Parts: sequence; C-alpha cells; structure tokens
Amino acid sequence: MSPVDLRSDTVTTPTPEMRAAMADAEVGDDAYGEDPTVNRLESLAAALLGTEAALFVPSGTMANQLALAVLASAGDEVGCAARAHVLRHESGGAAANWGIQLRSFADPQGVIDATAIDAAVADQRHHLPPFVAVAVENTAMAASGRPWPADALAAVVDATRRHGLGLHIDGARIWNAAVATGRSPAELSAGADTVMFCLSKGLAAPVGSVLCGGADHVAAARDLRHRLGGAMRQAGVLAAAGIVALETMVERLVDDHARARRLAHALADRFPGSVDPASVETNIVCVPAAALPGASPDAFVAALAAEGVRAGTIDARTVRFVTHKDVDDHDITRAVAAFDAVARSGAPGAGARD
Ligand SMILES: Cc1ncc(COP(=O)(O)O)c(C=O)c1O
Repeated sequence: MSPVDLRSDTVTTPTPEMRAAMADAEVGDDAYGEDPTVNRLESLAAALLGTEAALFVPSGTMANQLALAVLASAGDEVGCAARAHVLRHESGGAAANWGIQLRSFADPQGVIDATAIDAAVADQRHHLPPFVAVAVENTAMAASGRPWPADALAAVVDATRRHGLGLHIDGARIWNAAVATGRSPAELSAGADTVMFCLSKGLAAPVGSVLCGGADHVAAARDLRHRLGGAMRQAGVLAAAGIVALETMVERLVDDHARARRLAHALADRFPGSVDPASVETNIVCVPAAALPGASPDAFVAALAAEGVRAGTIDARTVRFVTHKDVDDHDITRAVAAFDAVARSGAPGAGARD
C-alpha cells in the first residue's frame, strides 16, 4: 500500500482531464505572445481575479519575486508577516534578487495588524528605510492555512491606500480562502496592486502560477520574468492543465478542508494542546512539535512514516499536514490510526524529550 502523503498539496498529480487537455493543447511561442492556450489562461485568470492583466509563471515563488520587484526597488522596505513565505521560504530572494529588505510584522494567527503599517510609515521620518509596500499571504500557510478575516484584510487594504503603498497578495491558496470564506478571489484581492495564485497546489495542475494585476505592473513583470529565464515557449501544454484546474478543481476544495479538520480533531484528542481544531479552516494543519511525542519534529515525522503516513515540517519547531485531492477519507482514517500507533509508542526510537 502506498503511503498517505500529507506533506503538501504540491504532491498532487494531474487529473485524466488535465492530461488530455495537455495532449491536445494548441501551442505557440509564448515569448512572442503567440501561445493561444497561455493567452487563454491569462485572460481567464485576469477575469476571475478582476484585474486588467495576468502572467503565467513557472512557480509561486517566481510570481512573488516578480511582484516584489514591480512594487519596490533596491534599498526599499516591504512589510510582511513574520512567517510569510516571501520572508522565510524563498531563499532570501527579495534581498538576493532585488536588494529589497523585508520587514517582518508579528503575525499571531497569520494576520498582520494594520497599525504596524502605520508605524512602519511613521518610522521613515527617523532615518529608517523607505517603506513602500506590503505583502499579505492568504491563506496564511504557517498559521494552519488560515484565511484572512474580512475586517483584518480591509484594514490592511485601507492602510496601504491611505499611505500610498503598494499591496501584493500571495494568494498561493487564494482558492482555498475563497471556498472557506464564501468570498470570490476578486473580492479577496480588491484593492491590491498584484495578486498571485498557484495552479499547482490544491488545484492539482502539474506546474505553474499566475500573477495578476494592472496592465503596467504585469507588463513590467513580463520583462522581469524574461530576465529570470521564466519565458517558457510552448507553455500551452502546461497552461492547458491550469485551465482545467480553474474550471474543475475549485469546488472540491471543501472536501480537503473537511479532511484537514478531521485530522486536527484527531491530533487534538491524542496530543492535548497540539492544535485547536477550530483554527483549521482550510487544508493545512500546523502543529508545534513541542506538543507531540518524540525528541524533535523529525522524530515525530519519522515515527509516522514508519506507520505509512508522510507529514512534513516547515521549520525546526513545526510539523505540517496538508490535505489535497490525492488523499481521501480512507487515507485520513489511516492517518488517524498512525496517530494512535505513535501515541501508544511515544515515538519509538526518538529518545526522550528533555
Ligand atoms: C504561501 C505560499 N506562497 C508561495 C509559495 C511558492 O510556490 P512554489 O512552490 O510554486 O514556488 C508557496 C509554496 O508552497 C506557499 O505556500
């Protein structure tokens, strides 16, 4: 039996419909703007997000990096959550690629308090760097994929508008946020200058993300994508899967959310204090390793792997479980049985926690 893979929603494989669309895709050279399928995906994405334009890119990381470069220059500061992907998981790209400094704001429950933006703007008068933009992550991955509450998001949009700042939304999982909150991706990104979403996570396409925004921003991002080597020629074979992803894979995310909640309840029952199930609203469960048996997150993950269940870690303190279309109810039952086995054994071989 193959292991239950809860490491990430990026492990999903394309659906048969995606594979058929890829095989039949009409293609051209996208670097000349001549790939009809890429153009169709970009038009669809812009329409769904309510923006003037969109750009297909190989990854969410590239989309975020392009957005930062469009909204800020070397020496500028961009604010983001302390656990944001742009800050922690992009190999220092903001600094290394563009000379942009990221300023981290406290993010209890993944959300930035808008007053931190007011303070960052006020700081500039005291010889702090030019503070030019804010990046918001929705859903907030490290906070168990929490979707931003409407009022918190509105306050950040308002602060950026009042201060004339740029606003980027890392919406890698904006479709999960949309399904969980009942608000459309266009509503969730209203007031932002740029928003990116991933096709290759919960929507299960094999490759790709889309950066959406105003025509000028997207044109600038298109030039920078070329500089990074991200112009992909007959990329319509990939975009075709992305179109199927947008058309067929959004509504089913509700099942992933229910399964993540089931995992959260099972973890809370077996490992008291590990997770508050009410905080799990989408497809991610992040658990502080201190609340789990075993000497380290890796030890807990290894003990689960021995029971046929793969989990991941996002840092040296946090274990992560992610549900997706290649995990069904039976797999969740297997995962819960693995939790039982580890709870009984106390993570054998892992040594005692001191
Ligand atoms: C919140 C968030 N933003 C951006 C990314 C980057 O996406 P990619 O892996 O396609 O570069 C990820 C990837 O996991 C993510 O979780």
